[in-house]
Amino acid sequence: MSWFKQTCLSSVGKKYIMAVTGFMLGGFLLVHAAGNSSIFFGRHAFDSYAEHLHSLGFLVTIAEIGLLSIFLLHIITGISLYLHNLSARNNRYAVQKSAGGRTWGSRTMPYTGLAILAFILLHLINVRFVNQHQPVADIVNAVLTKPVYSLVYGTAMLVVGLHISHGFWSVFQSLGINHPKYNSLLRAISWIGCIVIAGIFLFIVLLLLFSNGQLA
Ligand code: HEM
Repeated sequence: MSWFKQTCLSSVGKKYIMAVTGFMLGGFLLVHAAGNSSIFFGRHAFDSYAEHLHSLGFLVTIAEIGLLSIFLLHIITGISLYLHNLSARNNRYAVQKSAGGRTWGSRTMPYTGLAILAFILLHLINVRFVNQHQPVADIVNAVLTKPVYSLVYGTAMLVVGLHISHGFWSVFQSLGINHPKYNSLLRAISWIGCIVIAGIFLFIVLLLLFSNGQLA
């Protein structure tokens, strides 16, 4: 087996893969939240942002293929690490990890990850696999003015927030960016990232719910 393959299949290698793909997905979420926040400036701003994006043509297709590959790598590696940890826990010789440093975010990572996967499938059905010849503001309006979708999306945004609250911190740890002196700063950066991203999405959900379909 080549050195590269062996490293990728080891626990340490898998943690690196999770960190790098997680970092990229965090970047996507930040860009997606920033782009979608154009809706705060009215439906025309939102539609013209989406038109600009679509005008990039094949570059968008390449970015979508890249994004899908990163998602798949993150999910498959995450499941493999989860199963590995499960069998290590069942092994009576395994060293028990201290529960002291565990947070709600870290404890629920596999479950919030699966919930986000389910949300993304629903989200793509709602906004991507629909008639793309209508303005994007109408597509989003049709979904997020329905209270049941506001509830599903609102809950999903909290789940995304919980997942990335640990995710960002974990990226720093796995890439070796940690030092007792700066750990509380890194924790703060992780929380700020999580609150900004989940907060923007949550505001959009509330804006559309209370706009009654009358987006300015
Ligand atoms: C209020 C919250 C959100 C709104 C209004 C929203 C809106 C949209 C819209 C309009 C599109 C279609 C873009 C296009 O056709 O070019 C889209 C695509 C997408 N969204 Fe969201 N989104 C939200 C939250 C999220 C979250 C939290 C995630 C991930 C956890 C996410 C993941 C995606 C993905 C993966 C795509 C497909 C990207 C592509 O094919 O280019 N979205 N979203």
